[in-house]
Amino acid sequence: MNDPSRFYRWLLLVGSLVTIAYLAGAAVHENYLAQWKTVQREYRDILRQKTADDRGRELLSKFRIEMKQVSIPALGAVDRCVTCHNGIDDPRVTDAALPHRTHPGHLLDKHPVDRFGCTVCHHGQGAALTFQEAKAEDVYWDYPLLPPEMTEAACATCHDPEKLPSDQVPMLTLGLKLYKEKSCGSCHKLGGRGGTLGPALDNEGAKTRHQLIMTNVKPPYTTWNWQTAHFRDPGSIVRDSQMRNPTVTRGEALALTVLMLSEWRRDVPESYLAPDKIDQKHRDLHPIPLTGEQVYRQYCTACHGNGTYSRWDKKFGRFVPAVRGDSLVAGAPRDYLRTNIEQGRPGTQMPAWGPHAGGLHTEEITAVDEYLRAGARAAPPMPSLSLRGDSSRGLSLFLTNCAGCHGMHGRGGIAPEIGNPVFQQAATNEFIVRTIRNGRIRTAMPAFQRPEASALGDQDIADVLAYLRTLGENKNQSARTPGSTPPPPVGGKP
Ligand code: HEC
Ligand code: HEC
Ligand code: HEC
Ligand code: HEC
Ligand code: HEC
Ligand code: HEC
Repeated sequence: MNDPSRFYRWLLLVGSLVTIAYLAGAAVHENYLAQWKTVQREYRDILRQKTADDRGRELLSKFRIEMKQVSIPALGAVDRCVTCHNGIDDPRVTDAALPHRTHPGHLLDKHPVDRFGCTVCHHGQGAALTFQEAKAEDVYWDYPLLPPEMTEAACATCHDPEKLPSDQVPMLTLGLKLYKEKSCGSCHKLGGRGGTLGPALDNEGAKTRHQLIMTNVKPPYTTWNWQTAHFRDPGSIVRDSQMRNPTVTRGEALALTVLMLSEWRRDVPESYLAPDKIDQKHRDLHPIPLTGEQVYRQYCTACHGNGTYSRWDKKFGRFVPAVRGDSLVAGAPRDYLRTNIEQGRPGTQMPAWGPHAGGLHTEEITAVDEYLRAGARAAPPMPSLSLRGDSSRGLSLFLTNCAGCHGMHGRGGIAPEIGNPVFQQAATNEFIVRTIRNGRIRTAMPAFQRPEASALGDQDIADVLAYLRTLGENKNQSARTPGSTPPPPVGGKP
């Protein structure tokens, strides 16, 4: 008769054998075939070949196949990298293959292994015993092993990168140079200074891959791959990004990536900081003021270009005014530029640059104000306009002649916001009338009065002005009826 349990007894037997075989295999793998043991046996063979003198023989006899680690509580590190990188500070194996060979450069002379370990510079998972796990490019490890060419990002933790010899930190040096040249500070704050269109970058290097959206990045999904791809074309990584394409080569994108990875306010005990880092911290608190031209290049050019023509900005979908244009600076009242720079134009891309906003010092704002004016010719005298304007007639003239560019109520158009509270506060009537009459050369702003033909007569301009001045009175534009206030007298200062 067929025993009904027979099948199950067979199943149990086969199952047990498979389990035992698996455990035996795992034991062999763990104890004999483990990657690090293979590596150490290879290393012992290399040592045997190199051993020529008594000292060498003594070292060889001391070499044990065993797990090795450096424990540095001050850095929160337990690094077992030396389990495989056995020859890392042994000058006899400079010509061996990885992972046996000596560390490149003289870095470990200055940063001895027992005091610094490896992960403070390299990141990666210190306690791992396979290279795959040490690399830790999987989801669970926040800071995977940096590619060797990006490892210099970590130098900034303890050094002022500008004080290190540039041949030791070539990528960082190039990144710092590009950051200024490409005027990244126009849109990003770093150390409390810069624009606000993009996020502050002070702790960009602390970001983990989980904080960046990887949908449009090619694997492996590391922060450096995200950064490099984003620098090559921001819009392809972040949809509708307002960041301008910095137009960099691949090498330059890598350098900017290294710079971003280096921006990490990491907590390292004071005793691990090099003296130049401590100087840098002091200098950051009391920076040397920049010249007007330096301010303009680092913080304004990304939006205003060289400032002599009005730029059509594709990303913003609007004109950015020619802030060094002759017809603006020559006719602008004394404090006009300064007020606009200090307070910005709220609600537009133009950020405020005062000490409590963009972080420029008062003397730097004076310097950039002077830089914008440099070389401007004095404005020719203008016949004054002493007519009274009618703001409701002004409104209809505005809608026909101006709103297409300047937007309804003088806001949100493709040209400067002449309804913006900061414009309204800073601009005198004379300045507005002059702009409407003469337009602005090398910009889209037309002249509405020309010797040959005038689109608007003096009375029309007085009416438009009366309307424009109503825009400065009440922030809630949509709730008011234009033309309800008595028109202001024009000509001269208000
Ligand atoms: C289990 C052995 C093992 C451990 C543990 C290990 N490595 Fe390695 N490492 C290797 C091997 C093998 C290579 C060569 C790999 C290759 O060329 O693919 C390597 C290569 C490297 C490289 C060069 C990578 C490259 O792309 O050129 C770096 C840097 C490195 N290891 C650093 C570390 C650090 C830091 C640690 C500790 C967090 C560590 N390793 C732990 C075995 C190990
Ligand atoms: C002070 C920072 C620092 C420390 C500490 C450090 N490294 Fe490096 N390491 C670097 C830099 C920077 C590079 C890239 C240098 C280069 O390519 O010239 C590098 C390169 C390497 C490489 C690739 C070398 C090659 O030959 O291609 C390996 C492997 C490596 N380090 C392993 C280690 C191990 C293991 C430790 C710990 C015992 C360690 N490093 C400690 C900064 C450091
Ligand atoms: C964890 C902190 C730390 C990191 C990370 C670090 N260093 Fe250092 N470094 C130091 C300290 C501390 C000294 C010793 C300063 C002293 O005693 O004069 C030093 C010394 C040096 C020196 C010798 C300076 C001198 O005046 O003698 C050089 C060069 C150097 N580091 C380069 C680098 C480079 C390049 C990197 C990145 C690959 C790096 N360091 C990463 C802390 C660090
Ligand atoms: C015209 C303004 C503008 C300029 C100039 C600009 N950026 Fe950006 N940047 C942005 C905006 C807006 C974002 C947010 C949207 C995005 O991620 O693309 C951003 C995002 C970033 C991010 C990603 C931040 C994060 O973690 O999400 C980095 C890094 C960055 N910029 C660095 C730079 C660097 C370096 C430069 C100079 C080469 C630069 N930016 C120039 C506007 C700008
Ligand atoms: C074709 C588009 C266009 C039209 C139409 C236009 N403007 Fe302008 N306007 C501009 C641009 C562009 C600027 C910025 C010029 C620059 O770069 O300095 C400007 C500047 C101004 C300014 C100075 C604003 C500032 O922030 O400096 C005033 C005032 C002004 N326009 C008033 C008017 C009035 C009033 C009308 C209608 C009678 C008008 N504009 C019609 C494009 C236009
Ligand atoms: C992120 C882009 C951006 C940056 C950076 C920027 N601006 Fe502007 N700026 C603008 C825009 C856009 C306007 C027009 C605002 C409006 O619509 O009213 C403007 C307006 C101005 C005006 C008023 C011009 C006029 O015609 O009335 C001045 C002056 C000015 N910017 C100076 C500066 C200076 C100086 C810097 C650097 C410290 C700077 N801007 C940085 C975008 C920018």
